[in-house]
Order: sequence, then structure tokens, then C-alpha cells
Amino acid sequence: MAFGHWDAPPAGGAPLTSTLNGYIMTPTIRPETPADTDSIEQVTRRAFLNHRFSHQTEQFIIRTLRADDALAVSLVAEEGGRVVGHMALSPVTISDGAVGWYGLGPIAVEPDLQGRGIGRALMEAGLAELRKLGARGCVLAGDPAFYIRFGFANNRDLVLEGIPQEYFLALSLGTSSARGTVQFHPAFQAQG
Ligand SMILES: CC(C)(COP(=O)(O)OP(=O)(O)OC[C@H]1O[C@@H](n2cnc3c(N)ncnc32)[C@H](O)[C@@H]1OP(=O)(O)O)[C@@H](O)C(=O)NCCC(=O)NCCS
Repeated sequence: MAFGHWDAPPAGGAPLTSTLNGYIMTPTIRPETPADTDSIEQVTRRAFLNHRFSHQTEQFIIRTLRADDALAVSLVAEEGGRVVGHMALSPVTISDGAVGWYGLGPIAVEPDLQGRGIGRALMEAGLAELRKLGARGCVLAGDPAFYIRFGFANNRDLVLEGIPQEYFLALSLGTSSARGTVQFHPAFQAQG
């Protein structure tokens, strides 16, 4: 989630589907409560530990978004009474003044439970929450290979400075469009 070093992926990296061979789970998806704070940070930290673009600051981003009252949506995936995944959505600004757009992320699933449908459940619930909020759209910096299945696509009208265009994705939720430079909440710069 740190928007720092989005270069081309290293050659010979592990295949993205290497863990996608388990059984499908149907976790409970619910809003976070104060009791979830530590679990969310731990799941997020573990999920991003070996992520090729991460600066391992994602748990700090979530913490700062919460402290700044900018966690518009914060959902946990719970399985057997344990938090096994989390996703955050926060408002973004766009240079054309468009309102109602949100940034997706961080999203994280416990490493040993990835590839079992938890990320999908979080994505679908998070986008449903955005629709309930009347959101106009959602943007994210991430791997299109995962997000394309939820309707996200590269949009040449929207730019996030420092991120290669192919990794900056948008999903319009209404009929209005937006054009310009996107700014995520300052919490995305959090270092600790
Ligand atoms: C990305 C992440 C949230 C996905 O969660 P998950 O529980 O593993 O995903 P799911 O099992 O629900 O997979 C849903 C679909 O996406 C696919 N998928 C999962 N991870 C993928 C990946 N990294 N790349 C491409 N496709 C992926 C699955 O094959 C599945 O496909 P299907 O719709 O054909 O069945 C999780 O792998 C994770 O926490 N990764 C580390 C942190 C991270 O990268 N976060 C996103 C930052 S951009």
C-alpha cells in the first residue's frame, strides 16, 4: 500500500496463484469493533510481510486513518471467532472536484488462508457498503490480476502520482465520471 516503489515486478517471482489450492471459506464479514484493532494490525502486517511493493507500513496506515476518523468502511473477515482478513476504504480527493470517491486499501488476508475466498468476500462486502454510502466511485493501487474480477480497470482519466498507470485502477459506481489527479488521505504516508 505504500506508494513508493512500484517498479516492474522482479523476474522469476512466485506465481500469484501458488496458494490458490485450498477449500473455499465463507467467513463472517462485519464492521470492525474496538476489540479488533490489534488483530487487524497483526493480520495486515503478516499479509504484507513479503509483498513485493510493500514498505510494511500498511498497519500504520489503518491506525492513522482510524485516528483521523477517515476509515469510511473498515470490515473484518471472521472465521471461528478469529479475525482472518480486513479491508479499509477511505475518502479520496480528485483534482476536478469530483465528490463521493473512495480509496480501497489496505486489504489483507491471513497468509495461510489466502486463496480460499476471503478476499473476495471482503471485496464484495466493501463495494456493497460503498454503494450504500452513495459513493460515485472507488480507486486503488494494486495488481490488476486480482481486482479486475470486481470491475476495476485502468482509467486513463485518473492519475495517482508515483504509481505506474497500469497499477492504478478505478471502478465507477454511478453515472458520473471523474478526471484528474487523485490524492489519498495523508494517512497513507504514515510510517509508524
Ligand atoms: C490479495 C488478497 C487480499 C486476496 O485475498 P484472498 O483471500 O487470497 O483471495 P480469494 O481467495 O478471495 O480470491 C478471489 C479470486 O481472486 C484470485 N486471486 C487471489 N489472489 C490473487 C492474486 N494475488 N492475483 C491474482 N488473482 C488472485 C483467486 O484465484 C480468486 O479467483 P476466482 O474469482 O477465479 O475464484 C490476499 O491474497 C492478500 O492478503 N495478499 C497480501 C496483501 C495484498 O497483496 N493486498 C493487496 C494489495 S494491492
